Amino acid sequence: MKKVEQTILLANGVELPLVGFGTFRILEPEIGTNAIKEAIETGYQLLDTAEHYHNHHLVAEAIKQSSKKRSDLFITSKLWPNEENPENLRNRLYKMLAELETDYLDLILVHWPLPYGLEAYQALEDFYLEGHAKAIGVSNFNVEQLKNLLKVCRIKPMVNQIELHPHANRQDIVNFAKENGIAITSWQTMMDGKVGDLPYLQELATKYAVDPAAIALSWAVQQQICVIPKAINPKHLKDNFHHLDYFNLNDEEINKINLLTKIDGQKMNSEEFLASEKL
Ligand SMILES: NC(=O)c1ccc[n+]([C@@H]2O[C@H](COP(=O)([O-])OP(=O)(O)OC[C@H]3O[C@@H](n4cnc5c(N)ncnc54)[C@H](OP(=O)(O)O)[C@@H]3O)[C@@H](O)[C@H]2O)c1
Repeated sequence: MKKVEQTILLANGVELPLVGFGTFRILEPEIGTNAIKEAIETGYQLLDTAEHYHNHHLVAEAIKQSSKKRSDLFITSKLWPNEENPENLRNRLYKMLAELETDYLDLILVHWPLPYGLEAYQALEDFYLEGHAKAIGVSNFNVEQLKNLLKVCRIKPMVNQIELHPHANRQDIVNFAKENGIAITSWQTMMDGKVGDLPYLQELATKYAVDPAAIALSWAVQQQICVIPKAINPKHLKDNFHHLDYFNLNDEEINKINLLTKIDGQKMNSEEFLASEKL
């Protein structure tokens, strides 16, 4: 089966597409809607958005303009855990459904563990039990935070979406997740477009006649890690989807990329991230 057609089976039987489309910083209405629509027509099923990206309406519009039905697609969104009031959190989840013009999400995540990650997760559990989400999970949780959550949750998180790329293989989290039936999604797999600066990825890109982005994406996907590359440039958008099926890295190459890791553990907390990204 082609890599782009593969899925990861989540703990509750839902199938998470292995390759999706990221929408962080896609904000400009016309360019953004066109890029998301182009992604859908290219074959990406998974669209990754978040309350904090302020682009749910663009995702909804792109789906309406596309040739695909809602049921052909897999929408992931994320709740920002900045308050503890359950009613407010629940209302924000319903608002997301309205913005996305849908009555369910395929996957909803707590965007960051702090400051009210547990309260936000409890809101997701209720949302899931009411049938508004097919799967739930977390994002940016380290091993300790996952352990703490597993002790108190009613429904185990099915996914942890984390920063993971050739400079941050996050082996501790990946191994813990695997042992506990939690799927991993990588964000910034292409290091925000900078993987081309890594000599070893350049070497492999030359060998397989693809771009370095495809090498980073394949490195993750071949380890059953879901990827959600973002691209506005139509060539990037198509290459990121199609190049994956041109080649397979061998085990030695995957291991050598793993050795490029420089970052261990959680790089930033949510406040630092928020400040750095000026969302
Ligand atoms: N859970 C979280 O906390 C979190 C945090 C960050 C991101 N995310 C999610 O993960 C997604 C991916 O992360 P990201 O958008 O930060 O970074 P990324 O996907 O690693 O990189 C996006 C950048 O790479 C460029 N690019 C795309 N394809 C390329 C190619 N083939 N060759 C060279 N450059 C290429 C894009 O340029 P163009 O746009 O010009 O094509 C864009 O500037 C986000 O969109 C978001 O959905 C989640």
